[in-house]
Amino acid sequence: MISEGDLYLLKEPYIVMRERRLQVAIDGPAGAGKSSVAKTVAKKLGYTYLDTGAMYRALALTAVSRGIPLDDPRRLGEMARSILMTVRDEKGLFRVWVDGEELTDRLRDPGTDKAVKLLAMHRPVREVLVEIQRSLAIEGGVVMEGRDITSVVLPDAEVKIFLTGDVRERARRRWQELQAKGVKIRWEEVLDELIQRDRKDLEREWGKLVRVPDAHLVDTTGKTQDEVVAEILKLCEEKEIALRSR
Ligand code: DC
Repeated sequence: MISEGDLYLLKEPYIVMRERRLQVAIDGPAGAGKSSVAKTVAKKLGYTYLDTGAMYRALALTAVSRGIPLDDPRRLGEMARSILMTVRDEKGLFRVWVDGEELTDRLRDPGTDKAVKLLAMHRPVREVLVEIQRSLAIEGGVVMEGRDITSVVLPDAEVKIFLTGDVRERARRRWQELQAKGVKIRWEEVLDELIQRDRKDLEREWGKLVRVPDAHLVDTTGKTQDEVVAEILKLCEEKEIALRSR
């Protein structure tokens, strides 16, 4: 039986067979367009989109609202283990609940931006989230994006992507997004902030951003989003074919 999803795929330039459900892992620095690209790839493959940054953000919000200091790894780890986190991909809108309360709309508040950088450094917190993320991907059919997906969460994913781009171009994109939302900020400030985030992502002791040797480097500089998506779908298709001919 052909479902609506299949019909959608048949119209696309790349027809990816869906009997085998791959794990697609995407890592990369902030502002490389990971979320939009991962969402679109998931939609075209009929897979689930998993935004691991949103899960770190939800924990940061919870810690702040419960008054747990962001420099206390032990208490943060205990909190992470004790809560129930529920996530759902609703056609690319990644929704997150903690203990039944929906946090989706607050995940990108400026306060959460600051808090999550501190929370994500701690090993006990990362261990809990890594375990949840692995369990979400166990049956395949997922596109999971973050910083440590190819290296720690899903090192055996069939398709691994390191999505990056020139820092000035990433800053320009982020600045345009903020402008569109009516946020008044100078381009130079956005650039400085991105340079600092890159440094934090690379220097963190646990779960730092690394490009594993078998990840495909996809450089978004000078490319449209459609071109980047097509490049990743092609890699998925090639992987499917390689797995079939074994
Ligand atoms: O991708 P994002 O901006 O929503 O990520 C939010 C924060 O969480 C950011 O500081 C990086 C961190 N993060 C992480 O450490 N590991 C992940 N797998 C995803 C995000």
